[in-house]
Amino acid sequence: MSIEQALNEAAAAVNRTLDRLLPPVTGAERRVVDAMRYATMGGGKRIRPYLVLHSAGLFDVHADYALRAAAAIEMLHCYSLVHDDLPAMDDSDLRRGRPTVHKEFDEATAILAGDGLLTMAFEVLSDPATHPDGHVRAELVHALAKAGGAAGMVGGQMIDLLAENEALDIGAITRLQRLKTGEIIAFSCEAGGILGHAGPQVRHALISYAHDLGLAFQIVDDLLDAEGDAAQTGKPVGADAAAGKATFVSILGLERARNQARMLGDQANAHLDMFGAKADPLRWMTDFVITRKS
Ligand code: IPE
Ligand code: IPE
Ligand code: MG
Ligand code: MG
Ligand code: MG
Repeated sequence: MSIEQALNEAAAAVNRTLDRLLPPVTGAERRVVDAMRYATMGGGKRIRPYLVLHSAGLFDVHADYALRAAAAIEMLHCYSLVHDDLPAMDDSDLRRGRPTVHKEFDEATAILAGDGLLTMAFEVLSDPATHPDGHVRAELVHALAKAGGAAGMVGGQMIDLLAENEALDIGAITRLQRLKTGEIIAFSCEAGGILGHAGPQVRHALISYAHDLGLAFQIVDDLLDAEGDAAQTGKPVGADAAAGKATFVSILGLERARNQARMLGDQANAHLDMFGAKADPLRWMTDFVITRKS
């Protein structure tokens, strides 16, 4: 199977789950639910759900449990995009090839839709339908809260904004990207281990894979901002340089950033050795992350 097929399959399955978990409503509050659906249903590569499903696949986790965890993390990811695009942050008008949520609706609705998605992610993870073992559910909730909060994505977003027009060194950029993007990608892989009752050593290998993959992913995101095609990425090109963002590309330049991404990809895959051929879908993802054009 090709990565494109495997990614399409994962996306179709998680789309069905999202649609079921987030049905339209008819009450007076419907506007915020419509915005939540707009933010989650309109495309997206679904890389994080793919990582949840295929890390869970290493431990033969029940498909329904993995899909619910995958949908929860995609909700949190979509919330982070809605808020990232707001005028107070990256002020972006285009996401996934369509107007951003605050453009299609309005700013207040976009803030509320983000809040609604973030909260719902935890509602889904803590629901007994996600796993019969309460310890597993508590661990999922705790790990996602850490990855999404001030020690993870939120902290990274803060540094990203504070560092506009500042020349960070390579260590500081690495930390920024690890928090901003890496911890959520790490959780996506760890979630499979949590659902599958995996031991600490195995989980550590998955998290190490994900940290290298996450860094490679963000370097390529920065490369696509610098030299990508908006028709393919579905979001503006050249926005990082215009905003004076500190990125791997701003520090290393294009060529060295490309090499760094490739090197991190090899390093990521080396952590999968213990899983043998069962981890092939995760190896395909490494290749995809580095060569993607969108
Ligand atoms: C974009 O993530 C935001 C970053 C963390 C850089 P993706 O490139 O995974 O966005 P979608 O979900 O496919 O739209
Ligand atoms: C944002 O990073 C990552 C998030 C936590 C949402 P970027 O600002 O680089 O993401 P894009 O390029 O807008 O997707
Ligand atoms: Mg941003
Ligand atoms: Mg942005
Ligand atoms: Mg970017």
